[in-house]
Parts: sequence; structure tokens; C-alpha cells
Amino acid sequence: DGQYPHVFVTLGASGDLARKKIYPTLWWLYRDNLLPVNTIFYGYARSKTSIEEIKTKCKPYMKVKNNEEERFEKFWTLNHYVTGGYDSRTDFEKLNQELSAFEKGPVANRLFYLALPPSVFEPVTVHIRNSCMAQKGWTRIIIEKPFGRDSASSQKLSDHLASLFTEQQIYRIDHYLGKEMVQNLMTLRFGNRIFNPTWNRDNIASIQICFKEPFGTQGRGGYFDEFGIIRDIMQNHLLQILTLVAMEKPASCHPDDIRNEKVKVLRCIKAIDRKDVVLGQYVGSPDGEGDAKLGYLDDPTVPEGSVTPTYALAALHINNERWDGVPFILKCGKALNERKAEVRVQFKDVPGDIFDGKPKRNELVIRVQPGEALYVKMMVKTPGMAFDMEETELDLTYGHRYANVKLPDAYERLILDVFCGSQMHFVRSDELSEAWRIFTPLLHKIESEKIKPIPYV
Ligand code: BG6
Repeated sequence: DGQYPHVFVTLGASGDLARKKIYPTLWWLYRDNLLPVNTIFYGYARSKTSIEEIKTKCKPYMKVKNNEEERFEKFWTLNHYVTGGYDSRTDFEKLNQELSAFEKGPVANRLFYLALPPSVFEPVTVHIRNSCMAQKGWTRIIIEKPFGRDSASSQKLSDHLASLFTEQQIYRIDHYLGKEMVQNLMTLRFGNRIFNPTWNRDNIASIQICFKEPFGTQGRGGYFDEFGIIRDIMQNHLLQILTLVAMEKPASCHPDDIRNEKVKVLRCIKAIDRKDVVLGQYVGSPDGEGDAKLGYLDDPTVPEGSVTPTYALAALHINNERWDGVPFILKCGKALNERKAEVRVQFKDVPGDIFDGKPKRNELVIRVQPGEALYVKMMVKTPGMAFDMEETELDLTYGHRYANVKLPDAYERLILDVFCGSQMHFVRSDELSEAWRIFTPLLHKIESEKIKPIPYV
């Protein structure tokens, strides 16, 4: 009867992001009955392709189980595709007409996911604004990094978006905000009595926020070389984690109360100084196997002699009453020994030690991935007769404690949040602009002085 109250439009439907993340996520949400009923899906891209072809390309990423085939087919019957240019008003008008045919009911909301290269963000958003806004409901726009490449270019993009949409219509994804343990930071800090009283410069020596990946550019060298590890991981994913670790308690759980606190803590951080930074670039390992033999510069899509860092460490200082003097050490790199993302809160030594220097410092570790876990490194009396001591762990590994709970993928939570209209886990424009302020002078210095990264195997 043409009554479809929600339509989800993926712009760039034939691309990499759509295939690997967006379509699989829509399928999982659909499969688990989490989407509003009668949602339909539209793909839009330049290629002359079809839903059949998109389905074939996406399927390897969709993890369809044997008993789900029927539902999987049903999902695809709700999918449609329109070929169109990113700078063609008539093509967007055509899309609008197609969408309208499904909007016979009293309410019709539209979500647009821009799985597109930044070069077409501007024309596409203009065309959405001019030709594709929902007439009987809300319109929400989902975008992903890169949000520019420095303060000026990011501001230009923000101004452009603000001229077309309200902040409430814009959902900027940082997919780390969709991860279980990142979302857990608020609960951990403000839902417990035990952590917050020690969460300050009197008790904490330093905080490390780390990201490691065991593979290199994997054919994304073209994109990566333009951006580098600081823009790819540190300025967004790690800095977002930092804000949640360091911010003051928000007035409430309202998204804007939370984001106000995040902005406030960012405003207390000075632009990063070159002397607080270490940069690296991976080289091949002569006795490695397969890809491990290849260095960053061996990637044919990376320009010869590139000095783009693939590893970075930076110490950030938060100049406020809680954190003065406590370094926040952010580290991230590709082609390292393992996949891991974690926060390590390192406490100070016990004052007035009576154990001859034996106690090791406490450490609270929040492991984001792989294998979500929270553990506290602490001292206990060595069990048994002796009155000696040893280090142990107070361990909350989710795989044990919550063995039967399925933790959704970050994109599942975030896309569902967009349907629900919750901006709690999305980046507001003022947060973004503060994040760029902190990193832009360093990025400009690295680029203008062509600072050579330290090679690492
Ligand atoms: C993306 C980066 O934002 O995050 C990639 O562009 C990186 O380079 C990825 O591999 C890591 O995400 P996750 O969820 O696998 O840790």
C-alpha cells in the first residue's frame, strides 16, 4: 500500500564502505528485528549496477547463516537502486520521485548515509537539501571522516553543512563511540563510587590510550598517504576516548550535556608541541611472511619517498584542576605486533610505603578490543604461609562474565541511534573544531618540514 515510514538511502552504494560496513549493518539490524517495521533501503551511485550485483558483492561480508537464507532474500526485496551522478540535480530529483512512491502514509522519514569520498560531500549535500528532503517527517544525514584535513578545511565543511542542515539533522560518525567499552566509560566513572574519588592528579600518574593493528595499508595506501595515522586514528578515535576518560561529570545524560563536557575538556588542551611527539613509518620485515615483507613505501599506491607517519605517539596535557601535570599518552600504529585498543590508567605509588618498595603501582585497564575486559592490576599477599606480596588482577573479562551476551558491532548501535534520533554517541561540530585546533599546528609542521618518521619493522 506504499506506506513505508522510513527510508534509508546509501549514497555511494557500490563502494567499499557500503559493501563492507553499511549493507552488512543494515542486514544485521533487519535480521534481529531492530529496525522500525516497513523500512526500505535505497542505494544510489554512479555505476550502472543493480541490487543483484550489490547483493553478490556484499554477501561475503554479511555473515549469513544457513537458516537465515529466507530472511536474507526478504531483506533484499526491500532494497532498491538508482543510478545517478553526484552533481546532477535531475538525478536527485529522480531519486526523490522514486522515494515518494513509497511514502503514501502519513509519516515518511528519510536517512541519508554518505558513503562517499569527501570530494563530492558538498554537491551531494546541496542536492539532498534542494531535492530530497522528507516532506512528511524528519531528514537525517550521516557522514564519516575525513571531516576535512585541518582546522580550515574542516571549518569550511562544517559551515557548508550548517548552511543546509541543523546540527540535529547531522550525525557525524566516529565508530569508536559505538564500541561497548567506550560507551562503558561513562557508566564506569559516574555509576560507581569507587573510581571517581581517585580519578585525578593526586592519584593518577598517567593515562595511556593505545591503538595497534597487525596489518599495514592493505591497498588503502592512496587514501592513507593523504591523511596519515594522526588523522586516521589519533585526532578522532583516540581523542574521543580521551574526552570520555577526562571530562567532568555531565549535568545529565542528555547528549548535549555530555558533549558540552567533552568540548570543555578539549578546550583545556593546548595545541600539541612537536617535542611531545614521536613519529614512525613501518618497513618490511626481511624474515616476515607475505605482507609482513612489505614496508609502507612498497605499497604501489603510496608515493615514492613519502614521509607520512604510520605510527604516532603524542603526550597531551589537560590544563585544568583535575589533570594538571598528568600526561595523557596517545599511541597508535599500523603494522604492529597485534590488534589491540585499550586505556591504561596508571596510579601513583602508595605514599609512605612499609613494604621495602615491593608494591607495584595499581593500573586500571579498559580493553576495548579484542575481547572486551576491565581489570585492575593490584597487590595481594602471596597466598599461603608466607607474608610476601605479589601482583595480581581483579578481572572482569566480558567473555567469561557475560559469556552469552552478544555485543553488537559499533555500526549497528550507531545506525540504530540515528533511527532513534539519539545524538549521544555522535560528534558535534564544536567538538570537531576543538579536535582540529589541537592537531593542526603539528600536522602543518610535519608536512611543511617533511619531518622524517623513524623506521620500524
Ligand atoms: C578506521 C581507520 O577509522 O578505523 C582504519 O580509517 C582502521 O585505518 C579502523 O583500520 C580501525 O577500526 P576497528 O574498529 O577495526 O578498530
